[in-house]
Amino acid sequence: MKKVKIGECVLELVQGDITEQDTEAIVNAANERLIPGGGVDGAIHKKGGPSILEELRAKYTHCPTGQAVITGAGNLKAKYIIHAVGPIYKDGKSGEPELLASAYKNSLLKALEYNVDSISFPALSTGAYGYPLKDAAQIALKTVIEFLKENKKPKLVRFVLWGEESYKTFEEVLNTLL
Ligand code: APR
Repeated sequence: MKKVKIGECVLELVQGDITEQDTEAIVNAANERLIPGGGVDGAIHKKGGPSILEELRAKYTHCPTGQAVITGAGNLKAKYIIHAVGPIYKDGKSGEPELLASAYKNSLLKALEYNVDSISFPALSTGAYGYPLKDAAQIALKTVIEFLKENKKPKLVRFVLWGEESYKTFEEVLNTLL
């Protein structure tokens, strides 16, 4: 576990499972059609139960890449799920960096809109969507740090990294940014 202060806010890195987090919001790695898939998305829908998909279907038809939508969290400990759509990685020159930054920023803006004090993120786009881990970590951490400096909220942002490689990569990148 690593914890650093960014102004009045706390940024944490933990290795673990996003579905187990007790932060007020957790972020899902969703797709544009908001159809439950594997990875984080599959785990969230499986553990959270059918109310999440029911709410998605009732409120939204889709979510463009780089954007985010919000629902309740069903049986999970969190109150909200922010469903963010990261880009599918092609070559890194097709707008992916901007779209990935945008997925983080729009999730944080949703959190502000709902007055969320604490939020957990997975490493968006680094699984099925194939974003190279180190590049994705740079974008994720830079975007969150910049946002916390400007907004002073949410008070806690936690990255929940699946596996040691992912955790170590985020830790190394964070050390270069501080
Ligand atoms: N908790 C935290 N992180 C997890 C978990 C979990 N329970 N399960 C997987 N991960 C990690 C993966 O190892 C990867 O580093 O989350 C990161 C994101 O992987 P994906 O969930 O595959 O998300 P992404 O790459 O953004 O792809 C999204 O996959 O499941 C589908 O419907 C989803 O189409 C969408 C696409």
